[in-house]
Amino acid sequence: MIQALSKTFFDALAGSGRLKRLASTYGLRSEQSFARRFIAGETAEEAIGAARSVERAGMTVTLDLLGESVASSAEADTATREYQAVMDAIVAAGIGRNISLKLTQLGLTVDRATSVDNLRRILDAAAKHDFFVRIDMENSPFTQVTLDIFETMWQQGYRNVGVVLQSCLPRSDGDTRRMNELGARVRLVKGAYREPRSVAYQDKVQVDEAFVRIARLLLSDGNYPAIATHDPSMIAVVRAHASQQGITPERFEFQMLYGIRRDLQAQLTAEGFRVRVYVPFGREWFPYFLRRLGERPANVGCVIRGILRER
Ligand code: FDA
Repeated sequence: MIQALSKTFFDALAGSGRLKRLASTYGLRSEQSFARRFIAGETAEEAIGAARSVERAGMTVTLDLLGESVASSAEADTATREYQAVMDAIVAAGIGRNISLKLTQLGLTVDRATSVDNLRRILDAAAKHDFFVRIDMENSPFTQVTLDIFETMWQQGYRNVGVVLQSCLPRSDGDTRRMNELGARVRLVKGAYREPRSVAYQDKVQVDEAFVRIARLLLSDGNYPAIATHDPSMIAVVRAHASQQGITPERFEFQMLYGIRRDLQAQLTAEGFRVRVYVPFGREWFPYFLRRLGERPANVGCVIRGILRER
């Protein structure tokens, strides 16, 4: 209940342009800023630095240049070029070649064709340098169109691309079977957005049950699934299923967000599991940061304490 309310509250804040500008001006300046716990920095150099320390700890990375819901095709074009520059920087730095992006960042809210063209530009550049590109899943108005665009790319022969499915949506059982049929790579998450009752489970128990069900489907029939969660009970179920079915640790990976449950990331790595850390960075960090606050009300207390300390 508290989590649902706080998701709604933070969704509303994320829509505030004024707050966003204020946060982007001041929020990451201080090394002590609480936002820095979740965001690697504003520049590709800072993200690459963070990625290097993740890799030194035996894990892999996916870099996410934060941004979403751009308002014009010019902005979508800028985001696409920035992603191409990020890929160049990753190649030059010699870190893992894996990025995550959002279709609304590439212009999906402006018009679908623009986002498809931009995605293709990124996938072509990615293919040249052997990158894997994960299309993040946004809120439910974009679920079908995101999967449609993914399938279009898949039918056109792109294989260096994967999607995300959210266990909070009842439709994800069917979507999982479809992705398994294609042989597509799926990242499974619980879902970060406040969604209406008409499309999503409202009860955490149902979201968790669906997560377990879908994780099992992906592990048994999927193509190198990514199980993205910090929830120890989900991780325990995945481990038990893999071990019962003889699914070895090279056939899947766990994924976690930068700055969250570093202890668990280290523990799984030490036990021989693959762990990929999602490293977000960029000037447009505010909506991402608010989603992380909304997931855990205790984080809000940390922000307030940080602000009081800095005064
Ligand atoms: P749950 O919310 O039950 O949390 C389990 C435990 O994790 C908590 O008890 C706490 O210890 C810790 N934790 C979780 N969130 C925390 C936070 N914000 N701060 C501090 N501790 C926290 N969603 C989406 O809709 N589309 C997407 O594309 C993605 N992509 C994505 C990639 C990766 C690599 C991850 C790990 C997650 C996503 N998500 C996402 C977010 C996902 O949907 C979900 O909101 C978060 O992972 C939190 O859910 P958990 O599974 O961790 O469980």
